[in-house]
Amino acid sequence: MAGEMENQSSAALRHVGIIMDGNGRWAAARGLPRTLGHRAGVDAVRKTVRAAGELGISYLTLYAFSSENWSRPKQEVRDLLGLMKLFITRDLAELCANGVRIRVIGDRQGLSRDILGLIDMAESRSAANTGLNLNIAFNYGGRDEIRRAVIGLVGRMEAEGRDCASITESDITGALDTGGQPDLDLVIRTSGEMRLSNFMLWQAAYSEFVFLPCMWPDFDKSWLEQAIEEYSSRTRRYGGVPDADAKDIAL
Ligand code: IPE
Ligand code: IPE
Ligand code: MG
Repeated sequence: MAGEMENQSSAALRHVGIIMDGNGRWAAARGLPRTLGHRAGVDAVRKTVRAAGELGISYLTLYAFSSENWSRPKQEVRDLLGLMKLFITRDLAELCANGVRIRVIGDRQGLSRDILGLIDMAESRSAANTGLNLNIAFNYGGRDEIRRAVIGLVGRMEAEGRDCASITESDITGALDTGGQPDLDLVIRTSGEMRLSNFMLWQAAYSEFVFLPCMWPDFDKSWLEQAIEEYSSRTRRYGGVPDADAKDIAL
């Protein structure tokens, strides 16, 4: 397996994932309702997508709504769904003009028709774009994604008469919502919380993690640059040893 992994190097930064956390606390600190925190969060999304394009990042995944976020108060869930709709409606033209390719990852089942229509429109209109690849993780849970991938994979294998015991890691990787995309190199979480909250469990197996103290609405290009700088100082090992040590062993 090690041979399939990239060499120990932090140089390549192809895929950045962001757990956008802290909208509620940002609002509370200002005596505002949580919904205004979410609204301010959408402005930070705009800034971040622009910055990622400027910094030459190929893949950006934003965690917008988790499969567990349905457990929030009904009104807050409605607000969050409304903001997703508004974002696509208002921003799609500009995103397309900037060459952004949009994919929405997560479970489509249970989503309302109007949201499904907007998601389809965003994906199809941006399908030929060759700039930043933007994944919006919406109604997304890492475990649920793996569950759906396994169901799809097993169904296909049975149809082809293949033995499920021969399933490989790359079969599963390819069957995920992010099939064909590189693993996450860097995961950023704002708000100071240090957990994954069911974000891209499979794709984050060897990611570097940067936890930032800022609340999501305050995130901007300079925070992104700071996280990338921190990433550049890390040595990725993938279970091996650093290059210099490997040479010593060879002698
Ligand atoms: C992130 O901010 C937005 C979503 C999870 C949808 P939160 O709403 O989680 O804000 P906090 O964590 O309560 O401050
Ligand atoms: C994670 O944030 C989900 C998103 C950013 C969409 P949460 O605020 O839902 O995570 P927990 O509940 O603090 O783990
Ligand atoms: Mg939170």
